[in-house]
Amino acid sequence: MIIKALELKDYRNYESLDLKFDEKTNIFYGNNAQGKTNILEAVYIACTTKSHRRSKDREIVKFGTDEAHIRLFLKKRDIDYRIDMHLRKNKKKAVAINGIPIKKASELLGIANVVFFSPEDLNIIKNGPSERRRFIDMELCQLDKIYLSDLVNYNKCLEQRNKLLKDISSKFYKGGSIKDTLEIWDEQLINYGKRIINHRKNFISKLDSIMKDIHSSLTGSDEKIELIYESDVDIDNYHEKFADSRNQDLKYCSTSVGPHRDDIKFVLSGIDLRKFGSQGQQRTVALALKLSEIEMVRNATNDDPVLLLDDVLSELDSNRQNFLLKSIGGIQTMVTCTGLDEFIKNRFEIDRVFNVCQGKACMD
Ligand SMILES: Nc1ncnc2c1ncn2[C@@H]1O[C@H](COP(=O)(O)OP(=O)(O)OP(=O)(O)O)[C@@H](O)[C@H]1O
Ligand SMILES: [Mg+2]
Repeated sequence: MIIKALELKDYRNYESLDLKFDEKTNIFYGNNAQGKTNILEAVYIACTTKSHRRSKDREIVKFGTDEAHIRLFLKKRDIDYRIDMHLRKNKKKAVAINGIPIKKASELLGIANVVFFSPEDLNIIKNGPSERRRFIDMELCQLDKIYLSDLVNYNKCLEQRNKLLKDISSKFYKGGSIKDTLEIWDEQLINYGKRIINHRKNFISKLDSIMKDIHSSLTGSDEKIELIYESDVDIDNYHEKFADSRNQDLKYCSTSVGPHRDDIKFVLSGIDLRKFGSQGQQRTVALALKLSEIEMVRNATNDDPVLLLDDVLSELDSNRQNFLLKSIGGIQTMVTCTGLDEFIKNRFEIDRVFNVCQGKACMD
């Protein structure tokens, strides 16, 4: 897959932007706060519908305007695609593929695969479980439409069940028997929940085996990384645990059991990396995780993803830089950096360079 061009209108600090990318390495350099990350973010949104920074649409629309446009041109297996995205401050985003509007933005997932590297990847390891669930959901949704639909359905049921728990707790509740009403949602939630757990376990087991190899080549040491999917419930005791938690759920008006509570554990040679790993060990695992993502996309789609590297090179020591550059050779890459430092000049085969300055990106 190759991203050919990007056009922006009233997007963040860009009034208007028109970029043609090279098929290999594109560098965006410039001082801080000029709009480098904004370009990578726009590409990521056009491919995944979401900002890697978790920004809302209304935050992305240029200050002082009401709507923003992103247009991305790409080529996949010799077929050209044009993705049009219309972001509005107070409405859902509108998306069209080759001029044909799609009903749900999520239908876009899977057309274009991107892998985003940024220093914040470390948060996947260091932060709380919701960061890791977001990682796994973003990855799986890009690769598996069935997972996407199961997840959407699960979240809808969860929301409905939680709403019902709140309604029941209100003294004005006049619905049918609590048991009967709750059971309708319980059945559906458990059904989708089981599917989600199965998908995720499967994904983590594949990721684990790819990551073991990458991590050991990256460190050249005996340290062994292991990824474990920690499920709140087993498929077999899901019903039982769910039923046992009903009184508690009614008390707290929220659903306490299910994959929305699950986590992934990173274990490095027997220790919990999140709690006991050094900063360097965590960084290395974060890099191995991202490199494994590339491999997962390749295996699932038979195609290379596009890589977005936001400010990551300067964070890595030279061994890890070399490994990264070697691993991504041949894949279309967009890199941001503050200066065209010597190390980039020497190591990268730079194919196109853009200087980013105050919401303009000019080819050098
Ligand atoms: N909705 C918006 N409208 C206008 N400008 C915005 C909006 N959101 C962010 N900005 C501006 O975009 C700029 C930041 O852009 P970006 O994060 O791409 O910078 P950068 O070049 O990656 O900087 P750094 O090197 O520090 O990472 C800031 O000046 C910020 O004020
Ligand atoms: Mg930036």
